[in-house]
Amino acid sequence: MSEIYTVPSRVTAGSPNAITDLDAYREHWAKAQRDPDGFWLRETRSRIAWRTPPTQGLEGNYHDIAEGPIRWYADGTLNVTESCLDRHLSDRGDKVAILWEGDEPSDIQRITYRELHAKVCQASNALKAMGVGRGDRVIIYMGMVPEAAVAMLACARIGAIHSVVFGGFSAEAVRDRCIDCDAKAIITQDEGLRGSKTIPLKATVDAALESGGPVKQVLVFKRTGGEVGWTEGRDHWWHEVVDSASTSCEAEILGAEDPLFILYTSGSTGKPKGVVHTCGGYITYTSYTHETVFDLREDDVYACVADVGWITGHSYIVYGPLANGATTLMFESIPTYPDAGRYWDMVARHKINIFYTAPTAIRALAAQGDDHVKKHDRSSLRVLGTVGEPINPAAWEWYYNVVGEGECNIVDTWWQTETGGIAITPIAPATPTAPGSATLPMPGIMPQLMTPEGRVIIGPGEGLLCLAHPWPGQARTVWGDHPRFVKTYFEHFPGLYFTGDGCKRDELGYHWITGRVDDVINVSGHRMGTAEFESVLVSQGAVAEAGVVGFPHPIKGQGVYAYIVLEPGQTWSDDVVAALNQACREQIGAHAKVDLYQHVPGLPKTRSGKVMRRILRKVAEGEPEALGDVSTLADPSVVEAIIAGAKSV
Ligand code: WTA
Repeated sequence: MSEIYTVPSRVTAGSPNAITDLDAYREHWAKAQRDPDGFWLRETRSRIAWRTPPTQGLEGNYHDIAEGPIRWYADGTLNVTESCLDRHLSDRGDKVAILWEGDEPSDIQRITYRELHAKVCQASNALKAMGVGRGDRVIIYMGMVPEAAVAMLACARIGAIHSVVFGGFSAEAVRDRCIDCDAKAIITQDEGLRGSKTIPLKATVDAALESGGPVKQVLVFKRTGGEVGWTEGRDHWWHEVVDSASTSCEAEILGAEDPLFILYTSGSTGKPKGVVHTCGGYITYTSYTHETVFDLREDDVYACVADVGWITGHSYIVYGPLANGATTLMFESIPTYPDAGRYWDMVARHKINIFYTAPTAIRALAAQGDDHVKKHDRSSLRVLGTVGEPINPAAWEWYYNVVGEGECNIVDTWWQTETGGIAITPIAPATPTAPGSATLPMPGIMPQLMTPEGRVIIGPGEGLLCLAHPWPGQARTVWGDHPRFVKTYFEHFPGLYFTGDGCKRDELGYHWITGRVDDVINVSGHRMGTAEFESVLVSQGAVAEAGVVGFPHPIKGQGVYAYIVLEPGQTWSDDVVAALNQACREQIGAHAKVDLYQHVPGLPKTRSGKVMRRILRKVAEGEPEALGDVSTLADPSVVEAIIAGAKSV
């Protein structure tokens, strides 16, 4: 058994809805299990500004999901921006909604709820004038500027469906997403700015649209003033069309199950899929989890340093915090600019109470030594969150002891793009923690561990993590491809949602996520599909075959390992590597980097021609002695060559 840390006294429950201790947690969890409809109807009515409050809870179930998506609150109507903005105007109008810190630490904006409401209305009116309306899809391709949140909320206000694409993705990735969701417009900015480097966002959009496609309008926010290309009639400056628009805009009233956004995410096969979240359930679940997990209090300064290009930014920078009337920080820069103390300097200057980041950042900063932390006052901190990948106990301890000085509770929050919000996690004031464990399920979440053969594991054990009952925040479908949604998540174990993660459960009932069990690699908390890499690599003329797997990486969590078989007559050289790197950058994005290449004579295959990925994984993980049964190999000499030439960082 690992060491258990009791909740430090600074973390004692403070918000009116707090789950105060473990007994209270168990009571909430049991209530949600006994009567999920009653539980979630009560939660939504007390926290969300419905136009027509719903009377229905859940419709549908996992067994019948092939017939159509599950539904929550189906008879309710709302616009989520009324929960995030309008209803705060009377009592929180002058409270800071978005506290923005730009690339330079001195570049600060404080946007109140009243100002944010006005900006969102202006952007809504501008989008309408561009011909964007209810049900239309809009791609948002921006850096971390407040206008990115304004753009998301403006889409939501007029009933358009946004799809934020992380600003590191390539023109091809942007183009693919525009085509997949048939986007009518893109909202972007001239350039992004991170760590004093510019990112050519508008130029990438131009390249994405070069070959035509569905996008007819581009709205461009001016961030740096850098030179950009311009297409008359298609491109509009934000400062020209948004800033002059009316500051009032009636919200479009939508059904609870109308889509709010699409977010593309990598899976084990094929191209990224457009995960669809809907209005009523998503806003309820993000509001509930954000308040409960962090024990959010009215005067808290809350900082999640993720990017709005990922689900964490959607749920825990924008929607959850704004629904809760919180002051939410948006951070444009990187943790090491101007130095490795940037986060803690921000904590001191803004008196941040709740800080939420990823294990990869914690590991990278821990490697820079404690001085960068200690020279900044962190006494305002109460809750420290982590998300995105398993956190190793050493990084956890550093976060707890050095950053939190043993006075803050660590909430290791496990969840996914598909879960919409935090699913397994300590609740800050209630749950004793254990370094490396995401601990216990949120009320409404019913984890079940399964053996690969489909047997339920009762009590302590290790298996495949499934969730047994729907909750309001979960994804409803894959955009344009419901059968793919069903196949990906509901066919492995009929009646269960399969997460793709492995998990151990100990004697306390605590959950320890062991990582992906499928062909998804989690690099610095970013999900990458091995199939995406492989299809880029084999598209290069010199390459005959490619096999890509993950391997343990000291900072990134996982790194990308590529086995390359060349076409006959080709030779392995630095030029080949450079070409492959460039192809990944151009076809996926700047964050898609192969860490280790190994040139091999062939891939290990069975006699029926199937690649034995297990062998590729074990060699990349540095465990060639653990290959297991290799009797079905067509050509054992290939494996000997692979083992002999294995690379490591
Ligand atoms: C992993 C991010 C261990 C997991 C919100 C999951 C985690 C994938 C944790 C989802 C955690 C996320 N501990 N693993 N606390 N949080 N993961 O969709 O493998 O970008 O399936 O959502 O990240 O990544 P996604």
